[in-house]
Amino acid sequence: MQPLRPTLTRFIASTFTSKAHRTASSTATNFSVQPQPKQQQPQQPQVPKAAVSRARLARHLELTWRQGSASHFPLTWLRDNCQCPHCYHPESKSRTVDWATCDVTIKPKDVQVSDDGKTVIVDWLDAHSSRFSAEWLHERRFEEDARKKWLSTYKQKKHIWGSAQEENFPRKRFNFSAVMSTDGDLLQWLLELEMRGVAILEGADGDENTVRKLAERVAFIRRTHYGEEFNVKSKSDPSNVAYTEQALQLHTDLPYYEYKPGVNMLHCLVQAQGEGGENQLVDSLRVAMQLKQNNPEAYKALTTVPVDWSDRGEEDGRPFQSLHRAPVICEDAEGNVVRVNYSQPQRDSYFSVPLEQVDGWYVALKEFTRLALSDDNCVQYKTKPGEILSFDNLRILHGRSSYSPAVNQIYERHIVGAYLDWDEIRSRIRVLSQQEPTPLAH
Ligand code: OGA
Ligand code: ZN
Ligand code: ZN
Repeated sequence: MQPLRPTLTRFIASTFTSKAHRTASSTATNFSVQPQPKQQQPQQPQVPKAAVSRARLARHLELTWRQGSASHFPLTWLRDNCQCPHCYHPESKSRTVDWATCDVTIKPKDVQVSDDGKTVIVDWLDAHSSRFSAEWLHERRFEEDARKKWLSTYKQKKHIWGSAQEENFPRKRFNFSAVMSTDGDLLQWLLELEMRGVAILEGADGDENTVRKLAERVAFIRRTHYGEEFNVKSKSDPSNVAYTEQALQLHTDLPYYEYKPGVNMLHCLVQAQGEGGENQLVDSLRVAMQLKQNNPEAYKALTTVPVDWSDRGEEDGRPFQSLHRAPVICEDAEGNVVRVNYSQPQRDSYFSVPLEQVDGWYVALKEFTRLALSDDNCVQYKTKPGEILSFDNLRILHGRSSYSPAVNQIYERHIVGAYLDWDEIRSRIRVLSQQEPTPLAH
């Protein structure tokens, strides 16, 4: 989208000579830039009383845009974001202003707007001078609409689903080759992954390295103590219950990592013949929402009681002992669910909470489980060879039905998995979104 191109009106108080203005600039720190018709003599500055008194509380520069709206910029923020070579290193796009010596009570001596309205020049009392592009300032306005626009590039809005919305799971399929070769397809897949938390790619070959290539197409494969790619198949000496033919209860992978891998990709090379081997998928955001509405006490227990998530073992001769303490439902400061931890095998028998919290917590977990397994929330899908099931490991609970052992090693179920991190995926989404000329259809 074409950015709104702001133009500033001339700065009416360019001379800074009037008594009224001196009074304002010496006692107040709010500088007002007002519209002025072209080819008129500069008027005497009119600093409204309201602006002066407001300025005592908040040290702002007020700019009025040609469209008539006004924006306020904190003076300290302006000084902190000075774009001159002493304060900002353009090649690395980094602020270098020395914060140890920066004065948080700094005031401007003079503020001017260039005749074409494209530049705001702030001369500070400490003899430093800052020049800001009006467009740059406009994009960084503190008004809510501007902040919302900026934050829309931060994370995608989540589309919460239950089985009704995913009746014909998967809602969308992505072609593996298209995702590998075309940025637009890659972006669409990643957006679906972030918004709905699950997406299927189809048409991949049967190569064990394919999932690595996909991970590297996005960013970097995320290594864990199980390695980079991991082979999920029935093994004679399994280090994880996943490496058996048994059912896997609903879970999130690796809850015992503080930095839990964000996305799981499971590439089906060989699927179990006959019954079994399906995956169950649940949007835990919906389960958490239902629990919060129906049973606030259980919700409180699951958001506050820390659980000891752990995994001990040895992989490729390397022993590991992973441990992370966190509730089942993790919220951010605003109460948004940002991560769900859920795994029977990887919940430690050490439960390091006061005795009186234990029973209530179990009742809450039982209710969470009942909701997650309800037909209303749980969808089932059996991947076919060449499909890659990708899902948000902070959000989607997944499971697997048991399957029959292969006869004579023929049709031995074989899934290759790999992880990605959300930081890298979101970075990729932002870069790709800037390149994409067409609006994204969702
Ligand atoms: C796992 C897992 C799913 C499957 O290995 O953690 O969930 O389909 N596997 O085997
Ligand atoms: Zn500077
Ligand atoms: Zn798993």
